[in-house]
This record gives sequence, structure tokens and C-alpha cells, in this order.
Amino acid sequence: MKIVVLTGAGISAESGVPTFRGAGGLWEGQRIEDVASPRGFARDPERVHQFYNGRRALLTGGTIQPNAAHLALARLGRTRGIELTLVTQNIDDLHERAGSDDVRHLHGELLKARCTACGAVNPWREDLSRASICPACGGIDCLRPHVVWFGELPFGLEEVAAAIGRADRFVAIGTSGRVYPAAAFVAWAREAGARTLEINLEECPCSGDFHESRRGRAGDLVPEWVEELLSARKDRG
Ligand code: OAD
Repeated sequence: MKIVVLTGAGISAESGVPTFRGAGGLWEGQRIEDVASPRGFARDPERVHQFYNGRRALLTGGTIQPNAAHLALARLGRTRGIELTLVTQNIDDLHERAGSDDVRHLHGELLKARCTACGAVNPWREDLSRASICPACGGIDCLRPHVVWFGELPFGLEEVAAAIGRADRFVAIGTSGRVYPAAAFVAWAREAGARTLEINLEECPCSGDFHESRRGRAGDLVPEWVEELLSARKDRG
């Protein structure tokens, strides 16, 4: 069985990583164009660095751990006979820490820095600033977070689109479906004939596009769904 799972900020919320939208969300009080756009970075790189430094410090500070939903997806990925493509809009590393490999980070990775001079992408756990030096070319004032900003293209979209085109199941977990192209994946999946499921605390703009919606916390519902899927396969022999 070929399954594509798309995760969003909601899957990491129970691990203590704030979501983007809603009260207390990351975008509250921030103009997206100031902290998450190429123009914002050109205008005030230190401000953008500070925003991502704060998020990186939270991730590496020792308090954030993968939760039951991340662990259940890692289990699913290890199951023989299941071909899982795990796509995330999240820039944290909680899927990897839970044991998933080959995670497709559509919006990049917070624990990597990219050199705008030589293009090298390197692991990065410290603060970034204009004074940071590129480990590959030795350049200064040329590193940026390896994340996708508004107005930039998501990473690996072609491969993800191909996986959706082959999928038997498409499942979206903890994403508000407000940011394209990820918001269109459910429509692509249905067109390809996949059965589609949404797992979210709340109803979202594209909830109606799914065959099925389950409301509740990812930490409860994702392990439940994985268990259900694996037992149904076992029952079929
Ligand atoms: P959002 O913050 O837009 O949405 C989070 C979703 O998770 C909401 O629909 C919540 O209802 C749901 N949610 C919250 N807690 C949950 C829980 N415990 N269990 C299940 N669901 C829960 O985050 P995303 O949809 O991931 O892009 O945002 C998509 C993109 O918008 C981000 O990758 C980012 C942002 O702007 C960039 O920075 C390029």
C-alpha cells in the first residue's frame, strides 16, 4: 500500500512547538513579510536571524521531544508492505528524532544553514548572524536559514507530486490548509484516486475536500489510525 502523509505545525504542537496561526501563534504580532520573505531578509537580516535563532534554540534546548504521533508515523514507515512518503511543512526535526528517515521537508530545515554565496547546505545548531562564517567557502555575511520563505519555491515538489500521483491513501495531519501548494495536495490525491483522511483539532478551509475528517489531538488520533490500518492488514492476512 502506498501512503502519502502530509504533516503541519499541529503535529508538533503537543511537543511544545508553537503553531503559526491562531492566538499565541508564531505569526501573531509578526508581519510574515518582515521575518519570512527574501525581501524582509534583505531589509533587516539580523531581525530575521533573531526570529529563527529563537526557534532554533527552542528546538535544541532539550525540552522539545517527539510525541506519540511522530512515533506512530515512524512505526508506519518501518512496516513491511507499506510504502510511506512522509512530507512535512515543519522545519523541526521531530520526525527524524522519532525514527523516520527520508522525510521530505517542503519548507526546509531549521537545523541547517545555506550559503547564499556558494550554495552549500550545512548542519547548524547555533545562532546565525551576519558574522557567521560559511564552513564550505569561508565567506562571511552569506548564511541564511535553510528554510523556504514566502515567494520561494518549496523543496522537492516534483517528487512529492509524483508520490501523490501513485498513492492509495493521502493523510493530512495538523495542517490548516492555508498555504499552497501543500493545500492542493488533497485535490491532487483525489484526482489520482487515493482515499483521503484529515486529522486535525478543528475544521479547516479544505476539510470538505477530504473523504473523511477526524477531530482531535494528533497525539491520540495518529497512533489510533496507524494501529487501525495495521490491524486491518493483519486481519486480511
Ligand atoms: P498552522 O499554524 O496554519 O495550522 C496548524 C493546524 O494544526 C491548525 O489547523 C490546528 O487546528 C491544528 N492543530 C493544532 N494543534 C493540534 C493537535 N494537537 N493535533 C492536531 N491538530 C492540531 O500550521 P501549518 O498548516 O503547518 O510556512 O502552516 C503551513 C505553513 O504556513 C507553515 O509551514 C509555514 C506557515 O506560514 C512557511 O513558513 C513557508
